[in-house]
Amino acid sequence: MKPADFYTGMVADLYRPLRGSSESPEPYAEFVERYGGPALELGCGDGDPLVELRRRGLDVDGVDSSADMLERLRRRADAAGVPVTVFHQRMEALDLPRRYRAVFLAGPTFTLLPDDATALAALRGIRAHLTEDGTALVPLYVPEPTPLEQLGRPRTATAPDGAEIRVSVIAEERDETACTQTSVLRYERRHGTESGVLERPWLLHWYPSGVFEGLAAEAGLAVSAVTGPDGEPAAEGATELHFLLRVAG
Ligand SMILES: C[S@@+](CC[C@H](N)C(=O)[O-])C[C@H]1O[C@@H](n2cnc3c(N)ncnc32)[C@H](O)[C@@H]1O
Repeated sequence: MKPADFYTGMVADLYRPLRGSSESPEPYAEFVERYGGPALELGCGDGDPLVELRRRGLDVDGVDSSADMLERLRRRADAAGVPVTVFHQRMEALDLPRRYRAVFLAGPTFTLLPDDATALAALRGIRAHLTEDGTALVPLYVPEPTPLEQLGRPRTATAPDGAEIRVSVIAEERDETACTQTSVLRYERRHGTESGVLERPWLLHWYPSGVFEGLAAEAGLAVSAVTGPDGEPAAEGATELHFLLRVAG
């Protein structure tokens, strides 16, 4: 299974109920308002924050590699009476009809790209779809290993249809040279006498200091600022960094 296909089938079904609350749309609304539309969200999934940004009247399109997540996004948008334009594509093979003044990922979805070559292809796609005065926002983080005592311990929730659902990390491998961590996630769903189980590898790839900046430069992008998730200068030891990229001069 390709990493870009992780959020399909049962994983897409259980994503929202297991996640519980939604992240605040504010940082992304502020980003689009500040740098201007049209805007593009990469890895828009089932619609957070894209549907809310569209509801506020912001001109934002979406891209995701999972048709199942996009199907859920369209249903949520229809229910809210909000028109959306979304594309079923991989961010490392972007080919869209518009250029954008603002391109962003909401949260560190870029770490789902499995290696530097795929990341470079995605950055080249971002560069090709930005207007000359455009800005991109790429949040990144270095994942922590799952503590040993947490392995096999499920997080549980109840789905809207009443099913009992669970997810747990059952195994994990970390490669400090390749900068990857692969966790085997076990999803379980039980509803009355029916039950289903799915185990799937979830790969995260991170960037040692300077590597992301080098890939961006190779793609024709320059880092103009690095902030914390709140848009303020990144604090010492911050776990999530937001990279702002401009077209290199
Ligand atoms: C963690 S989810 C976040 C979705 C959404 N932003 C949210 O917060 O609800 C990550 C999304 O990125 C998508 N994704 C993963 N790899 C991708 C790729 N290479 N290109 C485009 N989308 C990708 C997945 O299908 C999934 O919908």
